[in-house]
Amino acid sequence: MTTSPIQKFANILANAKSLFIVTGAGLSAESGLPTYRGVGGLYNNRETDDGMPIETALSGPVFESQPEITWKYLAEIEAGARDATFNRGHEVLAKMESHFESVWILTQNVDGFHSAAGSTNVIEIHGNLHRMKCTKCDYVRHYEDYRNFELPPKCPQCAAMVRPDIVLFEEMLPTAALQQLQACSNMSFDAVISIGTSSNFPYIVQPVVMASQLGVPTIEINPGQTDLSNVVDLHIKTGAAAALNEVWKMLQTPNER
Ligand code: OAD
Repeated sequence: MTTSPIQKFANILANAKSLFIVTGAGLSAESGLPTYRGVGGLYNNRETDDGMPIETALSGPVFESQPEITWKYLAEIEAGARDATFNRGHEVLAKMESHFESVWILTQNVDGFHSAAGSTNVIEIHGNLHRMKCTKCDYVRHYEDYRNFELPPKCPQCAAMVRPDIVLFEEMLPTAALQQLQACSNMSFDAVISIGTSSNFPYIVQPVVMASQLGVPTIEINPGQTDLSNVVDLHIKTGAAAALNEVWKMLQTPNER
């Protein structure tokens, strides 16, 4: 009898005590959020009405010189994600924290769904769209949505402009998140899983490549092909929520595996 990819995944997890999980927009796609690249991707050859590619509109330099342009597209992204919530995939990852001794999530997603689903060890390497910070003073506040914002919004403390605490193009990664990631790179994990990311950034690719070089089992869940697909031990070519739900059921009923 041949072993299905999900069964192989379950077998790897059954022998693991600690997991390092990398997530991207594909995990939130099943919550109704658009991905950045690929089918229906936000960035697909998209020239904005402001005569620049969306990556430029969403960049640090444009935010500095023409913040109203960056804010327009930030608001568009937020409006597209409004009223959406975490899905079964996020839920299973959160449950895994009590099943395994140690689970760490490195996410590129700015939607905050991992924490909302109950995960606690989450490194938000690109920040969080719901956390607003002042560009001048120490004002920081969580906003569920941007519904009542007058764009570009002003700081209630000092009247300077506020912005979401996310990483725009050409900006540095947040120090605290980098430190958490560094701490994780000094830990050992029994499996490394990449979920729903096109793996475009070195800090996203590296944990998987390093694990693979060390002989740690690596798994990718992505219906599409990425540069990591030929690196990992196991590529599960289905949607994230279905794959995670399925493997979770198998972990609960080991005899049927
Ligand atoms: P991408 O949009 O680049 O890639 C999404 C990936 O998810 C693709 O490889 C799809 O094949 C896959 N995918 C689509 N549907 C899926 C599903 N149901 N289940 C599993 N996978 C699915 O998104 P990211 O790799 O997350 O940065 O992009 C990384 C960063 O690029 C984002 O964080 C953002 C953007 O620039 C910032 O905003 C700083």
